[in-house]
Amino acid sequence: MSNDPRQYPDLHDHIARLDAEGLLVRVKRAIDKDSELHPLVRWQFRGGIEEPDRKAFLFEHVVNGKGRRYDIPVVVGALAANRRIYSLGIGCKLEDIRERWDHAKNHPVEPVVVEEGPVHEVVEDTVEGLPVPISTPGWDNAPYVSAGHYITRDPDTGSYNVGNYRAQIKAPKRVGCNISLELGQGAYLHWQKYKERGEPMPAALAIGGPPCLSYVAVQKLPYDMDEYWAAGGLVQAPFRLARGKTIDLLVPADGEIVIEGLISTAELEPEAPFGESHGHVNPKEYNLFMDVTAVTRRRDAILMSIISQVTPSESGMIKKVAYEPLYLDHIRNQVGVRSVVRVALHEPLTSLQKLTVVQFRNPTPVDVWRALMAAVVFRPAMSKIVVAVDEDIDPEDPDAVWWAMGYRSRPQRDVQIFHGTDVGHGPRHDERGAAEDAAVMWDATLKEPFPPISLPKREFMEHARDIWEELGLPALRPKQPWFGYSLGDWNAELDVEAELAVRGDYWQTGEKIASQRRSTDEIPMNTSFYGPPG
Ligand SMILES: Cc1cc2nc3c(=O)[nH]c(=O)nc-3n(C[C@H](O)[C@H](O)[C@H](O)COP(=O)(O)O)c2cc1C
Repeated sequence: MSNDPRQYPDLHDHIARLDAEGLLVRVKRAIDKDSELHPLVRWQFRGGIEEPDRKAFLFEHVVNGKGRRYDIPVVVGALAANRRIYSLGIGCKLEDIRERWDHAKNHPVEPVVVEEGPVHEVVEDTVEGLPVPISTPGWDNAPYVSAGHYITRDPDTGSYNVGNYRAQIKAPKRVGCNISLELGQGAYLHWQKYKERGEPMPAALAIGGPPCLSYVAVQKLPYDMDEYWAAGGLVQAPFRLARGKTIDLLVPADGEIVIEGLISTAELEPEAPFGESHGHVNPKEYNLFMDVTAVTRRRDAILMSIISQVTPSESGMIKKVAYEPLYLDHIRNQVGVRSVVRVALHEPLTSLQKLTVVQFRNPTPVDVWRALMAAVVFRPAMSKIVVAVDEDIDPEDPDAVWWAMGYRSRPQRDVQIFHGTDVGHGPRHDERGAAEDAAVMWDATLKEPFPPISLPKREFMEHARDIWEELGLPALRPKQPWFGYSLGDWNAELDVEAELAVRGDYWQTGEKIASQRRSTDEIPMNTSFYGPPG
């Protein structure tokens, strides 16, 4: 036991930081948690507001349809309404997120057990006082905890798993637990072990908590990695734990709300419909449920909710920034394709599941195919369309990706179908693990020299930008490509001609080409002519 002080931000510190950075909207008017709260934040993602302008929302006056007022506020978007919020939560610069995850995985920090934590300031025995909102009013059959970090322990090794699985509010002392089998979740392996022993599985459902815990709860970490250690690795300090009040599990001492209970290993119960992150409603299915033994919380607890369903969403962003480094690490360091520089998972509507873009610097053809295959098999059911692009193609810009696919590839040579993937996280859920899907791998990298990009050279665009700003025209947000550059099919003589043209000496070129005339009997029209190599 220790009294070590906390060395990382809890949710309250994080929200104060968001407020100070202008990234928090405080809503003081009454908001119905079941019919108004999520639809309001939904507009931020479907209302044309650009990602950098998205914010977290703190609802301070939460009611339900029966006019009940809750004394616990609700926060939405505080983990990943945009990348910047995520980087603040994880405690690093935007560009260092990948490095921070690599560090956390390679340098996990042993947690400490403290005598008492704020999470035990209030102990109740039902979930009735928790303002869990309805995520998709009109379709969902109940409020569901969307920031539900289920904490379980391997009964053989003692290693902890923290996994974010939705939890249906079913009764004052009963909540759901939805483990998607196709995602290979850690808690499922624990549940199987308890089932073999003929015992129920003790579990703690932390709703939000210190941001480092939430980020670990949605990250796909190796099964044998204790996720309390990973949370410590992320903040480079020991994560503080306290003993559960009614179950033999260690719980986050600095958590906001923790529901303790026992998950049956003998029975399943209907759960859902629930609006899912793949953009469709998950139909009713038989799933796990937990009998609640205690609800513990801070006196000033804040209930976290994650906005999910159709992407873009907070759920999409929180996974995107975490999964992309995992893909890159796998392809570059495990499979060893060093020419890969970036992996982008497309988020809007496809929800990271279906389109993966792999960006290369000077790959060989073997590099391209090995990396595309590695991306397909990395997860059982993601990366259905995998595209290889060069370094000058922005993998986040679908226009640029389509451009490369259209001009830098020939499908009869550059496309392969990969058989034997899973249908995965999607509306055809009954087929998961049973029906075979396939992936399309598309090499859209340059295979031969190409003419330059048809935009003015960089120096002309930069000079013109100065004039643009001098004229006080609207602020520019440059999109790649914003200047022309060579793709190899060019020579020094053509540079000379272009320089002469800009200086106003193009008559010299006119004279030169007049001397290069050839008879129509000798040369067909439209024949390329580069002149002698310079
Ligand atoms: C908002 C949100 C909701 C999620 N809901 C579920 C869910 O209900 N069931 C599930 O299996 N995974 C769900 N996930 C994905 C898991 O959190 C993710 O796969 C995580 O890696 C699981 O942790 P584990 O690998 O430790 O089991 C959700 C993720 C987010 C961001």
